[in-house]
Amino acid sequence: MKKIAILGAGIYQVPLIKKAKEMGLYTIVFSIEGNYPGFKYADKVYYVNTTDEDEIIKIAKEENIDGICTTGTDVCVPTIGKVCDTLGLSGVSYEAAVCAANKSDMKSKFMEGGVKTAKYAIARNLEEAKKIIADMELPIMVKAVDSSGSRGITKIKEATDENIVAAIDSVNKVSKLDYFVVEECIEGVEFGAQALIYNGEVKFIMTHGDYVHMGDTGVPIGHYVPYNINNEILEESKRQVELSAKALGIDNCAINADFILRGNDVFVLEIGARAGATCLPEMISIYYGVDFYKVILQVALGEAIEEFNTDNLVPNVCKLLMADKTGEITGITLPEIYGENVYDISCDYKVGDKVNKFRIGPDRIGQIIVKGDTIEAAVSEMDELIKEIHIDIK
Ligand SMILES: Nc1ncnc2c1ncn2[C@@H]1O[C@H](COP(=O)(O)OP(=O)(O)O)[C@@H](O)[C@H]1O
Ligand SMILES: [Mg+2]
Repeated sequence: MKKIAILGAGIYQVPLIKKAKEMGLYTIVFSIEGNYPGFKYADKVYYVNTTDEDEIIKIAKEENIDGICTTGTDVCVPTIGKVCDTLGLSGVSYEAAVCAANKSDMKSKFMEGGVKTAKYAIARNLEEAKKIIADMELPIMVKAVDSSGSRGITKIKEATDENIVAAIDSVNKVSKLDYFVVEECIEGVEFGAQALIYNGEVKFIMTHGDYVHMGDTGVPIGHYVPYNINNEILEESKRQVELSAKALGIDNCAINADFILRGNDVFVLEIGARAGATCLPEMISIYYGVDFYKVILQVALGEAIEEFNTDNLVPNVCKLLMADKTGEITGITLPEIYGENVYDISCDYKVGDKVNKFRIGPDRIGQIIVKGDTIEAAVSEMDELIKEIHIDIK
C-alpha cells in the first residue's frame, strides 16, 4: 500500500484526503491542532505545523512516504519542496518553492525570465520607500514579500509620509523580514489560470474569470470557465504562465496563477506551485472530464496521469456561500430538487455552529458549483439556485 502525505486538513484539503483514501492510499495528514474537517478522513494525523520543514522531513523518512502534496494553500509549499528533494520524490523543488514564496525573489526571477509583471523595487524603511515612490506613478502598492491572502498589502493613492508609514506598519505586522516591495499598481481586471506541469511538460492551462469581493482588498469568491476574452489575450496569458513556471523552475506540480489585465496587456501578479482554492480543482475536473484531485495525487506519487480531454470542454461556474453577519446558524435551506448540471451545493456548517460575516476566504460557509452547455446557461442556473439557498443566522 502506497503512503501519501497531505499537508493541511482544512476545507480545501478534504476532497484531496478523501480521494487519497478512495484510491486505496495510506493517508497521512499533517496540520496544526484545531477544529479541522480533514482529520477524520485520514489514516494517521501528525499535529505539526505544515511550515515545520525539519519535523516533517523526519516523520516523512520514518513513515517512508511515497509522495507529498497539498492543494489550495501556499504556506506549506516550501515544505513539500524540501521533502521531495530530500526523499527524491516527485514534486516541486525546494529552490522553486522558496522562490515562489517570496514576492521579491519571485519578481526578480520574473524579470530575468522575461515575464510581464509590475515594476517594483525593494525598500527597508520610509526614506527608501519615498525615494522609490518619487520615481513611480501613483497609485502604488506596498507589499510584504513573505505573506499571502492579501495580508500586509496596501494601496497608496497619495504619497504622504503618514500613508507610507501606515503601509510599512501593516507590512511589519505580518512579515518576518526586514524589507518589503514597492510596486507599480496595475489598475485593471483580475483573472487567473490553473495549470499542470509534469516532467517538464505543460499538460493543460485553464484560464478562468474571477468573482471578487471587494473588502479591504479583493478576495476571490468564485470563478468561471471559460473566460470569454479575445483569443490573443488568452494565448498571451498561457504564454505568461509558461514563462513564469520556467523562470521559477517550477515542475511536477499544479500551478495557480494570478493576472491583471490592463487594456490588452496581461501582467502576472504571482504564481503558486499548487492548485487554487475556491472550487478550482473541481472546476478543472468538470472542464476537462478528469478527476483533478486524483491527478494531484498521481503526480505526487510519480505515476502516469489521466489524459486531459480538450475536445469536449464543459463550461462551469462556482461561488462561495457567505454569511452576511456574524452569529449562530439557526436554519439551513438548500434547494431540494435540482438537475444533473449541479455538481455541488453544500454548507460547511450545521445548525448551531458559529460563523463569521464574510471578510476573507476562510469565512466561507459553503459552495455551489454548476455546469452548463454554455457559461451563460451555467451562471443563470446558479443564480436561480442561489435564490433558493437560505442560511439563517442570529
Ligand atoms: N501591482 C499590483 N497592482 C494592482 N493590484 C495589486 C498589485 N499587487 C497586488 N494587488 C492586489 O492585492 C491582491 C493580493 O496581492 P498578491 O500579490 O496576489 O498577494 P497575496 O499573496 O496576498 O495574494 C491582489 O489580488 C490584487 O487585488
Ligand atoms: Mg494573490
